[in-house]
Amino acid sequence: MPADQTQNPRIRTKLMRINEKIDDDFFQILERLRGGKISIEKFQEVSLAFFENVRLSKAFADDIAIAAGSDEQRWLVRRHTDNCRYTILFYRVNENEAQPPHQHHNLVSTQVIVSGRIHLREYERVERSDDGKLRIRLVRDAILGPGDVVQASEWSRNVHWFSGEGGPAVIFQMNARGYDTTVFNDDDEGAYGRRYLDPTNVSEDGVAECEVLEPEEAFLRFKGHSLGEYPVPPTVVSDNTLVTIAI
Ligand SMILES: [Fe+2]
Repeated sequence: MPADQTQNPRIRTKLMRINEKIDDDFFQILERLRGGKISIEKFQEVSLAFFENVRLSKAFADDIAIAAGSDEQRWLVRRHTDNCRYTILFYRVNENEAQPPHQHHNLVSTQVIVSGRIHLREYERVERSDDGKLRIRLVRDAILGPGDVVQASEWSRNVHWFSGEGGPAVIFQMNARGYDTTVFNDDDEGAYGRRYLDPTNVSEDGVAECEVLEPEEAFLRFKGHSLGEYPVPPTVVSDNTLVTIAI
């Protein structure tokens, strides 16, 4: 067990809208991750299977409808256990309403498309240069539809960029922050936030050297643009493996 994790953690449940739909087993999976009893990869696999068994489109039909009709995220769970944070929500992404390219700090994330389609690009982080730029490599460029899964963690597919494709999409998201014990960037200035990037400067070896952007600048550059406007060098996509679950 990591040194900063206690036997009797302080649990703060900020929001819990799904008591009747998800039983306590799910939070025990989280505790196994927090205690270092299962790996990040195993947690991703087990939690995804848990939500496949729940059948999102039936169990959460009301919440999906609310998210589809709103510009706001439909929050279901916000729960803190010591310094770890867990959230579950649905949200809508409109056509060409880009979630600009961004990296995450100490995040384990699973997202499932529940309606519509998105255009997704995922990247692996390679290194951070001395001048603060981040070098990343594209590993997937794909159009995803209902049931398709997007998973990210500190050391796997940490950077992504996506928007609705051909109309709005609704996405299920479960995020666990602060659970990894090793991080890519120790002196990241924020514990739980995103960092926006511009990955459009790609060198011949397929690595993009990214300027880190303030949120306002990121949305200014990418909002309202389809990902298809930015060409993909054919040599850089190395893995188009797609995980899909029954919803
Ligand atoms: Fe993200």
